[in-house]
Amino acid sequence: MSSSTSFHQSSRQQKPPKRSWASTSVSDFQAVLKSSKRVLALCGAGLSASSGLETFRGAGGMWRNYKASALATPEAFENDPGLVWLFYAYRRHKALNAKPNMGHYALAELARRKGEEGFMCLSQNIDGLSQRANHPAAQLKLLHSSLFDLKCFSCPYIEKDNFSDPLHPSLIIDEASITARLSAASKTNKKSLSNSTSKSPTIPIDELPHCPACKTGLLRPGVVWFDESLPKQTLTEIDQWIGSGLIDLCLVIGTTAQVYPAASYVQVASKEGARIAVVNMDSRELGSAGSLRSVDFLFEGDAARVLPDILGGVVGGLEEFCGGGGDGERGSG
Ligand code: APR
Repeated sequence: MSSSTSFHQSSRQQKPPKRSWASTSVSDFQAVLKSSKRVLALCGAGLSASSGLETFRGAGGMWRNYKASALATPEAFENDPGLVWLFYAYRRHKALNAKPNMGHYALAELARRKGEEGFMCLSQNIDGLSQRANHPAAQLKLLHSSLFDLKCFSCPYIEKDNFSDPLHPSLIIDEASITARLSAASKTNKKSLSNSTSKSPTIPIDELPHCPACKTGLLRPGVVWFDESLPKQTLTEIDQWIGSGLIDLCLVIGTTAQVYPAASYVQVASKEGARIAVVNMDSRELGSAGSLRSVDFLFEGDAARVLPDILGGVVGGLEEFCGGGGDGERGSG
């Protein structure tokens, strides 16, 4: 069960990559997948990379270009709500213009084939792409909530599934200048946060979306920020699923697995004797999935291509999603 419920990045120094003894055999993996009664998946930004959405820590990752502490914390919002809103309005815009890839569809089909007791997907992603791939809702737990939920910064008001883009006239995204603007402003916000000086607001407060319930509070993105608690109900549902039987196989897909409590679920599964199967473009930083054994699996490559292949034995060819059918596109990676 998850040790701490507040969202934080592991401060442990990344151990140098251990040479992995993990198997790369697709046929062996497919035999394990078929015989596994209960499969858990932990997904991260790498699952959506092939849909054109940025990751956080890899090459070109968001936290390489922007200061997370100046954009994804309650203090940052308090200090410059307009800047934080620009960052999330930009991500909403990008996610709404992206499409689920074959990795999302393969996991959704695996959920249908294995059923609610047989498969649970824990996603760190807030982009909505798994939902748009028709992943069964009961088998998809959003650890960090969603870009499309809103909540009031002052009262308990919550609004789910608001897909409007722009969300507000002051949040229209100019794609040509947004990234440079965010990069510069996040550095200034970080400086003013660290020496607790106030800075001129990126957008005047009265031009930002306000709460329709209490009228005075500012609306904020309904996502989980650093040092915030993960949604209690979600954690309870995950613990109930994990507690209802041993896990045979844990898929760790497109994540550095270093943000807790999300990353702790890999350790929970491993302690129960589950075999671990990592799908990642780069096996150097695997966080809580970093010590793979010979009974485990490591598939290096684009999740949008690897997942349909390694899950193929259970989910079939996914023809209806290739090209014209659904929303999905084969991985461009
Ligand atoms: N296919 C598979 N893996 C990929 C691909 C791809 N096409 N592209 C990148 N990756 C891998 C990277 O090698 C990296 O291991 O995806 C991982 C992305 O790691 P991060 O950028 O750290 O993203 P994530 O693990 O999801 O971050 C967890 O941190 O900042 C918070 O809220 C944020 O939910 C996020 C959390």
